[in-house]
Amino acid sequence: MVKVGKLMSCSKQLCFAYVLQLAAVDKLYKKNIEREEEQQEITYNESDTDDKDTYDTKENNNRIVTTTGHRHLHISRIELIPTYNDLLHKLCVGAWRTFSSKVTKEPYWIAKFPDRIASFDEIPTVTEKYNPRKVPEVAEGWFKKYGHVVKEPMQYGKYNVHLFHFDDFRTVYRSDGDFPIRQSHYVIAQYRQERKNLYDHVGLGPGQGTEWRHLRDIARGKAFALRPSKEKSEDAVDDLVEIIKSNLNDKGEIELLPWLHRWAFESIGIVALNRRLNALAKSNNELADKMVEASALTDEIIALTTMDPTTMYDERYKQLVEAQDFFYSVLRKYIDDIKRDIELEPESDGVAQVLFQSGSCTENDAITLIMDLFHGSLQTVPLTALMAFYHVARHGGIQAEAREEAKQRMPKKDSRYFDGTEPVDYTQSIVYETLRLNPPIIGNGRVIQKDLVLGGYSVPAYTNVLLHFQVACRQEENYKEPLKFIPERADPSRITYVFGGSNRMCLGKAFAMRQLFLVVAKVIRNFEISYDGDEISMINQMHNKPEKPLILRLKPIDE
Ligand code: HEM
Repeated sequence: MVKVGKLMSCSKQLCFAYVLQLAAVDKLYKKNIEREEEQQEITYNESDTDDKDTYDTKENNNRIVTTTGHRHLHISRIELIPTYNDLLHKLCVGAWRTFSSKVTKEPYWIAKFPDRIASFDEIPTVTEKYNPRKVPEVAEGWFKKYGHVVKEPMQYGKYNVHLFHFDDFRTVYRSDGDFPIRQSHYVIAQYRQERKNLYDHVGLGPGQGTEWRHLRDIARGKAFALRPSKEKSEDAVDDLVEIIKSNLNDKGEIELLPWLHRWAFESIGIVALNRRLNALAKSNNELADKMVEASALTDEIIALTTMDPTTMYDERYKQLVEAQDFFYSVLRKYIDDIKRDIELEPESDGVAQVLFQSGSCTENDAITLIMDLFHGSLQTVPLTALMAFYHVARHGGIQAEAREEAKQRMPKKDSRYFDGTEPVDYTQSIVYETLRLNPPIIGNGRVIQKDLVLGGYSVPAYTNVLLHFQVACRQEENYKEPLKFIPERADPSRITYVFGGSNRMCLGKAFAMRQLFLVVAKVIRNFEISYDGDEISMINQMHNKPEKPLILRLKPIDE
């Protein structure tokens, strides 16, 4: 009897555990579905990257690990009968809550505050003046001195709260609600509001509430699949390879970044306008440089005016007006050409073409979104690619392994990446590890809309919090020997935070990753990359960039 009793209770436990698992999976699926539905609109469904390009739910210390790829999501939705699904959900929500409250690990800050939540006033306050270009180092210094949460007084008695722990990032994103608030780009909002004949809305960067939602809904549509033809995007990388070869100096060296910028301009042109923009041609290519310059200046002014809205505001705004007027005038011309062309012959590719032909938004909104796409991509992707090349240049073994993989996919020097089917997992790991160690941005921000407990402190609703992804990625508590470049530990689920979170996550994530995998694989396939200079130091001008030009040596590979 005892044995039967034990057996019964064991099987009951198993059943219970199974139901709980289903409920847990179901719940986690739903969370992911919400994100995925948005992301799927902007993602290709190609096998070569989907496996890594997922939104995993992964609690620390491997407590709960659920990896949810697109394909699994489809299975869950198709296979579960809706009523069963509803019933199961209702039955299990309570059980899941009880269960999860029991298995949830203790908060990371429990040793500091074992029996209470600390007040907002107790958060250590930092008051020093600092160089905004060195913000990652300054923030890391605060973390090391004061811990995972610090507050910085701002104007009008307000505070910015700086966060350095992944668990707090997750808490913030999970509390986001339908209209996440990111406090930045005010200067762009002002510029666009002063030009109501050209802009119906301020855009995705500064937009909030229903205004932001309106544009983001347009961006959920098919036009925003951001799916350039493989052929054209690979042509652009091939052009990059050729232009690198013809611009190596007599020592075989080159400053890659300006060429990577041009490539980024060309690539976003392919997806947004379905046009080649001549940025990688041997002549008449200066326009791309000027556009990149205008976007870099805009970024710097956004960063400076967000951190310090009072100093030299008028001068900075004047510079921004010049840069943005130029940016608009160039894109306007492309758009006018496209409008003329599609009147003669409909075109099915290109964000602009699809938006104009579907009539799904006003012309002003279409141009605003296209400007936001250009702006989002011109710095982030090239800077990440540059840092990936810097790291492989300093790690011969890693480079050799990546080249071996690239050769399997592209056996000949002129083989096409997209014709090959061999996976490029190691190359992808190099990209993820680069995003960990040298992300193009330091992190993200949110104005929280609920009272939250962050790092054991009570933080009131409507506080601006800064999520320091870069600092968190460089700590021993999260990664062993964090300053070493080790692709083998690539960690896509956490690295996803570099793209922000919730339903406001980066619109270009899938596009960015695909571009990065492509360019890293092709350049490594075509060149041996080396670097024997000092370790480079970085500055931040909204994006992290090398303080001085980074010169790499690239030796073309013969076959
Ligand atoms: C490595 C490359 C990139 C990184 C690290 C990155 C990072 C980010 C981050 C952190 C945000 C804020 C998201 C949030 O608030 O949750 C964001 C927003 C955005 N990104 Fe990216 N991004 C990258 C590439 C791109 C590209 C290639 C594009 C365009 C094709 C793009 C377009 C945008 C846009 C339009 C937004 C505003 C989204 C909104 O507020 O609704 N990004 N990005």
